[in-house]
Amino acid sequence: ASILILNGPNLNLLGTRQPEVYGATTLQDIEDMCEAHGRALGVGIVCKQSNHEGELIDAIHDAKGDHDGIVLNAGAYTHTSVALMDAISSVALPVIELHLSNIHAREEFRHKSFIAPVAIGQICGFGATGYRLAIEAMVDHIR
Ligand code: DQA
Repeated sequence: ASILILNGPNLNLLGTRQPEVYGATTLQDIEDMCEAHGRALGVGIVCKQSNHEGELIDAIHDAKGDHDGIVLNAGAYTHTSVALMDAISSVALPVIELHLSNIHAREEFRHKSFIAPVAIGQICGFGATGYRLAIEAMVDHIR
């Protein structure tokens, strides 16, 4: 089995971006941790990041056939993108919505998620640990 870890806008800046909100862990650290966790669980992990909505949509389309599920941190597009929601609906692949921060404890505009209705579930508030939790949940879901 193979899981795509897809990170959206501004997540390339993790480590220096508002560390009080998102922690000191870099995206590279998170991707290394995901790959190590995948190896431990016997599942393939591929990591991608883009700041561009259309590239994230292409990555979701292209995941079909190559991967069995997607862990998606869509960043701010979570709260705005009908197009990402439609892309998920258009590929029959399980998606887990992930956020480092607890979006429900933050500004009102972060409470709305276009991803949640088309995801199998949401993990938020656990920082980088959330990626590990999401990989475990996806492996259980796939198997
Ligand atoms: C985020 C939460 C979003 O509201 C925000 O726009 C991000 C990061 C998170 O991981 O906590 O870019 O998805």
